[in-house]
Amino acid sequence: MARHPLVKSLSWLKPTRWPQALKLAVYGWRFTTLGGPPNLIGWPDIGNDGELHVGKGFTLIGNIHRCSLGIYPGAVLRIGDNVVINNGTIISTRLAITIGDGTGIGYHCLLMDSDGHPLAPGEPIHEGPITIGNHVWIASKATILQGVTIGDFAVVATGAVVTKDVPAYAVVAGVPAKVIRMLDPSIQWRFHPPEAF
Ligand SMILES: CC(C)(COP(=O)(O)OP(=O)(O)OC[C@H]1O[C@@H](n2cnc3c(N)ncnc32)[C@H](O)[C@@H]1OP(=O)(O)O)[C@@H](O)C(=O)NCCC(=O)NCCS
Repeated sequence: MARHPLVKSLSWLKPTRWPQALKLAVYGWRFTTLGGPPNLIGWPDIGNDGELHVGKGFTLIGNIHRCSLGIYPGAVLRIGDNVVINNGTIISTRLAITIGDGTGIGYHCLLMDSDGHPLAPGEPIHEGPITIGNHVWIASKATILQGVTIGDFAVVATGAVVTKDVPAYAVVAGVPAKVIRMLDPSIQWRFHPPEAF
């Protein structure tokens, strides 16, 4: 028999989830839309002056260093289902950043869709939306710069600075990032997010 939505919500609120419920009370209003209760580990900085759309199964880990999500007025940060973002990562959008389903972002990564300043007075500011596909693994300390699209199942190695598009299934490394190998599309790597609590 189908349960009443209120009964469902109250049963979600079992004592082990009280810390998450508290965080939802503190942070809930900072999300424009949420597909389900987020798993917020630690206390992130979320400055949302634009739109922040997040799917279900979102994990934001900040038990060592807090993560920061900064959305400027008019900008949109769209995060798919089952995305995990690890300690110390900073995502700053002045335009649009999209992160696909099942993508994992490691420690201390930086995603930035605008240089923020011109190189000289009167020059345009380099900026462009960032699109990250589904089941992408962005390893620790990687930087993704403006205008980049990363294909599904791609891997960005630790320390890479990605300035150009990355094809699906490519592993890129270095500064600027270059393809170091192609993954076998028949073996589709899946990132397993930690259990929500
Ligand atoms: C993505 C990663 C797993 C790639 O591993 P891999 O495909 O097995 O790569 P290999 O070790 O076979 O290296 C292939 C070549 O790329 C180079 N390379 C590998 N990783 C590199 C990196 N991060 N930056 C620059 N070059 C790198 C290797 O030196 C090697 O060069 P060579 O052929 O001249 O000897 C690895 O680079 C990485 O990022 N590991 C850290 C993951 C991490 O941050 N985990 C934390 C949790 S998110």
